[in-house]
This record gives sequence, structure tokens and C-alpha cells, in this order.
Amino acid sequence: MAVQTDDKLLNAAKNGSGLDVAAIRRDFPILSSVQEGKPLVYLDNAATSQKPRQVLDSLEQYYARQNANIHRGVHHLSQVATERYESARNRIAHFLGIPVPCQLIFTRGATEGINLVAQTFGRTQVGPGDEILISHMEHHSNIVPWQMLCEEKGAALKIIPIDDRGALDMDAFDTLLSPKTKLVAVAHVSNALGTVNPVEDIIAKAHATGAPVLLDGAQAVPHMPIDVGALGCDFYVFSAHKMCGPTGVGVLYGKAKHLEAMPPWQGGGDMILSVSFDKTVYNNLPYKFEAGTPNIAGVIGLGAAIDYLEALGMEEIAAYEQALLAYGTEVLASVPGLHMIGTAPRKASVLSFTMDSAHPHDIGQILDDEGIAIRAGHHCAQPVMERFGVPATARASLAFYNTREELDVLGEALRKVNKVFA
Ligand code: ALA
Repeated sequence: MAVQTDDKLLNAAKNGSGLDVAAIRRDFPILSSVQEGKPLVYLDNAATSQKPRQVLDSLEQYYARQNANIHRGVHHLSQVATERYESARNRIAHFLGIPVPCQLIFTRGATEGINLVAQTFGRTQVGPGDEILISHMEHHSNIVPWQMLCEEKGAALKIIPIDDRGALDMDAFDTLLSPKTKLVAVAHVSNALGTVNPVEDIIAKAHATGAPVLLDGAQAVPHMPIDVGALGCDFYVFSAHKMCGPTGVGVLYGKAKHLEAMPPWQGGGDMILSVSFDKTVYNNLPYKFEAGTPNIAGVIGLGAAIDYLEALGMEEIAAYEQALLAYGTEVLASVPGLHMIGTAPRKASVLSFTMDSAHPHDIGQILDDEGIAIRAGHHCAQPVMERFGVPATARASLAFYNTREELDVLGEALRKVNKVFA
């Protein structure tokens, strides 16, 4: 980042982290907008984050001055576009501690990454009587692809239970893990509860029984430093749009030994070395899994988002958000009749709750009238709602550009909900 002025240092010191949040907020055009006549308070970051000017500019620059297809043209523009696309891959690899960038596959998002693994690794490695182990806190994208696979293969889906705080029952995990387990697939951070799972422990135990591990990092990568290489998981997926990047693009990391053994998923341009009607020779990694013209602008935008986050520092982002989460938890605890759903000891950036006075959708509506954007519903994690015996929750989810003042506004609006529905 640029050299800090005295004002910036003062702002950073005030919030107890290295972040100058006032300056950061100026990078996000949407954060100064007005909704329903009120300043926007955006607390729906687990659904999608906002985008800084640097990411918007990278998209504009590509489309206005560099637009061309990649890996195909000898012409200058195609070479520039290819260089920007592949440079993003290299920067993402560096950001995540992945020594070999060809282990990163660009996808449409975390959901597509999980489906790719289910349809390639899963269809070749899982058979009748085998088991896939997931947890009770998964969102639908890390449930349904495995259900489909198990149905096709005659395999069984096993569920690691969660306790009343929303933490994984690791004793049950130990019992469920067996030589029949062909894959463990769990969220790194839960989108509905905010629980940070003990992934190091999960990986060590799964590997000890020979089971590979897929981590859904969609809610983790935006909020904390992640070293995928050091974690040693077999697959890791995430989406750009939850980490200041564009929609429609994400990443699947896979260990080379798995990716090389897996058959391609989709056929088409870029994933071939040669095609005849008798035989097609598939391309090398990562292109074997990137059929057709990819989301070039999206990948370039994701690269810009990574540059932005790296410049702020993921350690600083994590420290700031942890302090904000603690403050938000206090604010919500002071609202009469409010019940937190998800109180695990290790949490990240999610405040899920119900209120005695109103249904979550009514809470969402009243907050919207106050210019506050939260998500109300099942958060694409219906088994979590069933586990806690609620049809839905209201969810405020935080990012590094949110402030304590915004959480005070949220607290006031929730008191108003109580008054309206008294
Ligand atoms: N999984 C996203 C969310 O939690 C869509 O809102």
C-alpha cells in the first residue's frame, strides 16, 4: 500500500489493526451509496462481497483495451490477454502457498469446483459400499454433488454431527472415519454459522486412514491467511465474488497426483492437445480441466482482488474482523429476545440469529427499510436449520470494510424490530 499519512495511521490505530478502514471504504464506490434514503450498511458479505475500484478498473482495462481470446492467437492482444490470465493464476498460487500453479483450475465458482471433483475423482474412485464423509454444517453445494454421486455408485453419505454451538463433533468424526471413507469433504468455515473447523486435525486423521480431503474454502479465503500447501489437503475450492472479485469465477486446487489421474470433465477447446475422429489427446494441467473460452475478465479481476487483499494483509484483515465480530456479538447480545445461532469457540465473520418478536424475513424487511442489507433464510444450508430447529435465521456477515458504527446501526434497527412487532 502507499505510504501512510498521519491521518491514516491515526485511523488504523483507532480500530486496533493495521487497516485504515476509512480509506479502504473510499475504494468501494457502492459503500457510499444511499438505500431507502439511508446510508447503505452492507452486512451480506457471506453471500457476496463488494468490489473495490481496483477490481472494477482491471475489468474495464481488459474489456476496453486488451480484450482478446487466450492461448489461441499469435496477435499482440491475445498475448497480452493470455499473459494477464496466467499471471493471475501465478499470483493466486503465491497467495495460497501453492508451489506449482498448474494445480489451480479456474472454474465458475466453489460449487463448480466441488461438482468437478465429484464427477471426475468421485466417479473413478468411489464404488458400491464406499463412504463419503461430510458434516451437518455443509451448504447445499457440498451436499448435493455427493448425494448424486452416492446414488449413482451405490455409496453411502455419512454425516459428522455438530453440537449445540455449531462446532463439529470430532469424537463422532473419529468413529465415522474408516477404510471405507473415500473422501472427507467439509467447509473450512461455515456460511450459516461462522464456525471455523479444525481442518488441520481433520486432514491429519483422514490421511492416516488413507482418505483424501476436500475443503470448501468459500467462506475462509476472504477472511484469514490460508496456506493451502501447508495444510496439505487434497482439494480446496473457493469463489472470487466473496473475496472482492467478480461473479462467475472461482478456483479448484487439487494435488497434481489426483488431477493427473482424474479424467477430464467437460470437453472442448483448450482441454485438448489434438483431436481426430479416432482419438483425442488431452492437454496437460491445468488446461485439461478448462474446456472452452474461460471467464478471462473474471480471472483477471480475481487477480486484482488478490493484489488488493495482499496489499492490505490477510493477517490484518483477520485481526480486524475478529475484533469486529466480538463487538457485533456484544451488540446483538444486548438486543432483548435475540438468540445467536452458531456460538462455536472459533468463528469467522458471521452473526446468525433469530428473534422472539419476528420471523427472519420480517427482520430482513425492517432492516432493509433502514438501509441495512443482511440475508434472511436458510442460507442454502437447510440441514443446519433443521439441526437448530428453526426454519430460517437472519444473518449479518462482515467484511474488513465494515465498522463498529455500522454494527451500532444494526443494533438500533433490531430494537426497532422489537418495537414494530411488540
Ligand atoms: N453460500 C452463499 C451464502 O451463504 C450463497 O449466502
